[in-house]
Amino acid sequence: MISPDKQTYLIEADSLFYQYGDKDLAQLVLKGATLDLRSGEFVILAGPSGSGKSTLLSLIGALRQCQEGNLSIVGYDVKGANEEIMRTVRKNIGYVFQQHNLLGFLTAVQNVEMTLQMFPEYSREMRRDLSAEILEKVGLGRHLDYFPSQLSVGQKQRVAIARSLVHRPKLILADEPTASLDSKTGIQVTEILHDMVKTLGCGALVVTHDNRIFSYADRILHIEDGVVKI
Ligand SMILES: Nc1ncnc2c1ncn2[C@@H]1O[C@H](COP(=O)(O)OP(=O)(O)O)[C@@H](O)[C@H]1O
Ligand SMILES: [Mg+2]
Repeated sequence: MISPDKQTYLIEADSLFYQYGDKDLAQLVLKGATLDLRSGEFVILAGPSGSGKSTLLSLIGALRQCQEGNLSIVGYDVKGANEEIMRTVRKNIGYVFQQHNLLGFLTAVQNVEMTLQMFPEYSREMRRDLSAEILEKVGLGRHLDYFPSQLSVGQKQRVAIARSLVHRPKLILADEPTASLDSKTGIQVTEILHDMVKTLGCGALVVTHDNRIFSYADRILHIEDGVVKI
C-alpha cells in the first residue's frame, strides 16, 4: 500500500471557470470548480443534469482548453498549454463515454487496437497482443473477432473500457459509463473500472447519477451549478 503522502496528484483543479459562447449568448457553466484526485483513488462525481459534469471532465481530459483557474493533469499544467502538451496529457488518459462509440466496421480487438495507433513505439503484433490481453481482462477473450453488432450493449461497453485502458493510462475519466446499461451489467462494468484502479494503481473520476455504484467510491464529490461541494 502506498502511503497517501507518496501518492501523486493526477488532478489538481483550482477555481475553474468555463463559459460557452460569448456576449449575449454567453453561458457560464463552471463557476469556480475545485477538486483533486490522487493515484489509487476511485472518485465519483455526481450532480444534476446540466450542472457542468461533462464540461469539467472534458477540461480534465484535455479535450478543451481551460479558460480561468489552474489545472494540472498527470503532472502537466494544461492552462494555456500548446497542442503537444495537450496530446501528451491525452495519452495518459483513458476516456469512457456513456455511448460506447465503437466503430461498426472493426472487430472488438481492432477497435481496442485503435487506441494504440497513438503510440508508434508499438509494433502491429504488440498492438494486437496488448488488445487481446485487455479484452481478456474484461471477460471478452472469446469475442476478439466479433463485430459490435454481434455484441450485447454491456459487452460493447466492456470493449469501450478495454479500448480506454489498453495503453495503461494513469487516469481514467468515465462520463456516465453505466447510463445505458441494466443494473447488473452496470455493476459489472463498475467493478471492472474499480478493479483496474486498485490493481494498476491508476486513478478514476467517474461521473454518474447511478446511486447503486456509489458504494464503490473512495470519495463522492457533488457538483451543483458549476461548483464542486466536497
Ligand atoms: N458545446 C456546448 N455549447 C454550448 N453550451 C453547452 C455545450 N455543452 C454543454 N453546454 C451547456 O452547459 C451546461 C452544462 O452542460 P454539461 O457540462 O453537459 O452538464 P452535465 O454533464 O452535468 O449534464 C448545460 O446548460 C449545457 O446546455
Ligand atoms: Mg453530461
